[in-house]
Amino acid sequence: MTTSRLPGFHTLPLEERLARLAEASGLTPEELSVFASSGGLKTEAADHMIENVAGTFGLPLGIGLNFVVNGREVLAPMAVEEPSVVAGASFMAKLARAGGGFTATTTPPEMIGQMQVLDAPDIQAAGQAILKEKDALLAEADLVDPLLKKLGGGARDLEVRQVQRSPIGAFLVVHLVYDVRDAMGANAVNTACEKLAPRIEQLCGGRVHLRILSNLADRRLARARCAIPVGALAFGEFSGERVRDGIIEAWAFADSDPYRAATHNKGIMNGVDAVVIATGNDWRAIEAGAHAYAARNGRYASLSTWGRAADGGLAGELEMPMAVGIIGGATKVHPAARTAIKLMGVESASQLAEIIVSVGLAQNLAALRALSTEGIQRGHMSLHARQVAIAAGATGDQVEQVAARMVAEKVVRIDRAEAILKQRNEHV
Ligand code: MEV
Repeated sequence: MTTSRLPGFHTLPLEERLARLAEASGLTPEELSVFASSGGLKTEAADHMIENVAGTFGLPLGIGLNFVVNGREVLAPMAVEEPSVVAGASFMAKLARAGGGFTATTTPPEMIGQMQVLDAPDIQAAGQAILKEKDALLAEADLVDPLLKKLGGGARDLEVRQVQRSPIGAFLVVHLVYDVRDAMGANAVNTACEKLAPRIEQLCGGRVHLRILSNLADRRLARARCAIPVGALAFGEFSGERVRDGIIEAWAFADSDPYRAATHNKGIMNGVDAVVIATGNDWRAIEAGAHAYAARNGRYASLSTWGRAADGGLAGELEMPMAVGIIGGATKVHPAARTAIKLMGVESASQLAEIIVSVGLAQNLAALRALSTEGIQRGHMSLHARQVAIAAGATGDQVEQVAARMVAEKVVRIDRAEAILKQRNEHV
């Protein structure tokens, strides 16, 4: 990768964008051509992925530009249907470059598998009996995936938790902590839990009911930080100080009010999910983990933090579970996902997680900056107007012209777009 700064990229015709991308990334035009063919997923391949396949479903794939993550230039593939998301992330990544880009870290890729133990005569004693055999149980769980073990993964820990009050009374929960390395991990963890269940039953005299991975992957966290010099935040009539303070005030709102936190975190997920989807990962798992983590202190709050840096700039941080993989499942089967991973030059799931969380932080900044200054409608409206113009049948140059007219009139509606088109056609 030479650079993720590609000025004027959005103004290039589509084929030239791919050529520019090939030049910047070192990928061949053939490799990148899957992006231009609805992701290259053939119906026959899709037929092996899920059931009752009737076809495939395309989404726009944009490139998040300007990202520097841990000193490395990164082009971030983003699959998303919402206008302004890719532009917002790219613009904020450009501002973050002024402060050295994003610094990101991850904890080890440890997932949690849960076993629900019911009907144990004494749950206290049951827990102790299981923990006494912890080493043997971990050794048994290790056998489930010899390849993972060879790559440095495997069972790490076993914990017992008591649920004292529930609609069915008290019961025991066993957590198996499993290092899944570069996999998302659901398969290895679920298999290990199913394997351990009979032994757990023998040990404690209870009945193992559910055996399934937890999406609250709070041992597999990704963190990104960025610091933006105050001067880089200024625009139009807004001073850098005003933008910085406005963003901190907006964050404080999200951190104290669940109604706002839900929307604030949705903005983060606009960026996170877009990269998760582009890489063929399970975005429902990421969503579930994110929102459960946001409520970990008993009240749903912001996943990010914004504050004033020591030099007067703006400092931001995002921490969230990030159970993504680069091997197995759709990440390997989907041609566009394979190319997306190659485009980012990632060699481990942790590196991918670091990029995703950086994009999430950039996306959050884009929303807060817009909301705390001119509002989001101005930027949104022209992009939305282009979509409405296309829906009304506009093509080529007509799209921009019809959209511009609707924005000027502040009426963005399909009937208005159709009327403008009709008028234009009558004059031609
Ligand atoms: C819209 O998709 C996302 C925002 O609502 C996020 C936010 O309010 O922070 C703009």
